Formats: sequence, C-alpha cells, structure tokens
Amino acid sequence: MVLNLFTRQFGHCSPISSVMIEVRELTKTYSDLRRGQFVAVDGISFHAQPGEIFGLLGPNGAGKTTVLRVLSTILCPTAGRVRVNGFDVLTQPDLVRYQIGFVSANTAVYDRMTAWELVEYFGRLYGVETNTLRERMENLFCKLQMDEIRDLLGAKMSTGMKQKVSIARALIHDPPVVIFDEATSGLDVLVARALLDTIGELREQGKCVIFSTHIMREVERLCDRIAIMYRGHILSEGTLHELLESHQQSDFEELFFRLISEHDQQHAAAGIST
Ligand SMILES: Nc1ncnc2c1ncn2[C@@H]1O[C@H](COP(=O)(O)OP(=O)(O)OP(=O)(O)O)[C@@H](O)[C@H]1O
Ligand SMILES: [Mg+2]
Repeated sequence: MVLNLFTRQFGHCSPISSVMIEVRELTKTYSDLRRGQFVAVDGISFHAQPGEIFGLLGPNGAGKTTVLRVLSTILCPTAGRVRVNGFDVLTQPDLVRYQIGFVSANTAVYDRMTAWELVEYFGRLYGVETNTLRERMENLFCKLQMDEIRDLLGAKMSTGMKQKVSIARALIHDPPVVIFDEATSGLDVLVARALLDTIGELREQGKCVIFSTHIMREVERLCDRIAIMYRGHILSEGTLHELLESHQQSDFEELFFRLISEHDQQHAAAGIST
C-alpha cells in the first residue's frame, strides 16, 4: 500500500539528492550465543553519489553484507544514521526500498517461475505501470541477453542464468541505487566479465552503484572510490590513486595487506581483541 502510494506520488525513482547514500557513524551489533554482544560494524561513515561505483572491499567477516543489509532495510542499525536518496532507513524504510535494487550471489529465483514471469512479478510488486513494465522488460531481457531463457523455469537455470534474472529483477523498478554484494561469486570468467560491464553501464546511466567484494582486481577495474573494510572498521577510503598515494604504495594488494596488519598490530598493542 505504502509502496503503491509512493509510485503514484513520485512516478519513478529519479535522484532527489546529490548524495545518494549517506552512512554516518553506523554501528551494528549482533547477539550471538558464542560471542555475546558482537560488534560487526563499528561506527563507520561513508557516502556515495549518483554516477559513481563505490566499492566495499574486505575479507570474509569484515562486515560488508551487514552494511548492505542495513542500507536495504533488511537489518536495523544499532546506532548511527543511514539515508538513501534522502530517505532514512529507520523512519522511512518503505521509501528506501524503492530507491534500491539488491543483487547478491544467492538472491532467490523461484523454481516454478520462468525468467519472464519472475521479473514481471517483481515489477508488479513495485507497482510499475503495465506499458512501462513491458518496455523495461523487453529492454532488460535484450540487454542482459536473456531472450533465450525467457520461458525457462528457475529450477532449470544455471548459476549464471539465475544471476541475470536477479539483476533484471533488481533493475525493473529503475532504482537510483543498485547494490551488488559479492555478485560475481560462483560465476565463470565470461559471465563475471559481462556482469562487470553491465555495472559499468549502470554508472553511465547515472546510477549509484555499491559493489562489495573481496576480489581486489574487480575493485581496481571498476570502482571510482573504495572503502577498505576490516573487522567492522573502514581502514582507508578514497580513489585507487588517493589510497596508493596517501599510503605511499604502488601496489594495491600490498597496501591492502599492510593496512590489515597495521590494524591488527595496533589492536594487539592496545590489548583489544579484534
Ligand atoms: N545474523 C548474525 N548473527 C550473528 N553474527 C552475525 C550475523 N550475521 C553476520 N554476523 C557476523 O558479523 C560479522 C560480519 O559478517 P558479514 O556477513 O557482514 O561480513 P562480510 O564482510 O559480508 O563477509 P563475507 O565476505 O564472508 O561475506 C561476522 O563476524 C559474522 O559472523
Ligand atoms: Mg558478505
């Protein structure tokens, strides 16, 4: 209901804010039987703009997915403020959901729906008007080279095919923000490359793309700005050039390892368990 009202009121989801993603002092704590109160994200801040690919780079357990789940309103922040296109994730979650398309390595594709049915279903759920929906679907199926899987059931799709359907599903309401969480995981090099090309095109269209990965090559190739995340903290943030220059490094992989080992050393010296 709220979603449909929003569509009627705003028509489409064009940017109304020049800072598309605003994360301020975000903390997320989980209650865990083994670890008790566990701080997965510890007071991080960053922002991202339309027409920009912002990379969250970090090893397993760094807190990337947690941040992205807060951004997409799946999780509530424990502290801090998060806004998407000017809307607050805590007080305006329905409006935030309209701003975002979310693609992860394990976005569900329903076994008993064809590619076409699934994308259409999500388009309707977002209240996209019938003619616009049809036009967008034709464009997306053509662009993502999905025409041959139009009538294929989810149960019969390969990982790469499912990923394409997930992308079409994430873009069907034309959101200004598209989030990719480890989206190339499980894809062969050809499909992964095609996905990275698609992400580049989204930037050209003015979308704000948030791209999380632990693969440095992807970040180097794709991202305009990068935040290096480790154990719930952002260790450094900037363009690739800025990161290398400010830490006097010429190699990104070396810089990544150096930042992590410095963080561990500082915490060990301070007697903090990391
Ligand atoms: N539901 C949960 N309950 C308790 N702890 C959780 C939960 N979800 C995540 N965590 C913990 O929070 C930390 C950050 O996890 P998160 O999934 O955000 O990391 P990530 O950077 O996405 O890692 P990966 O690269 O493996 O996907 C980890 O220590 C994880 O065990
Ligand atoms: Mg993750």
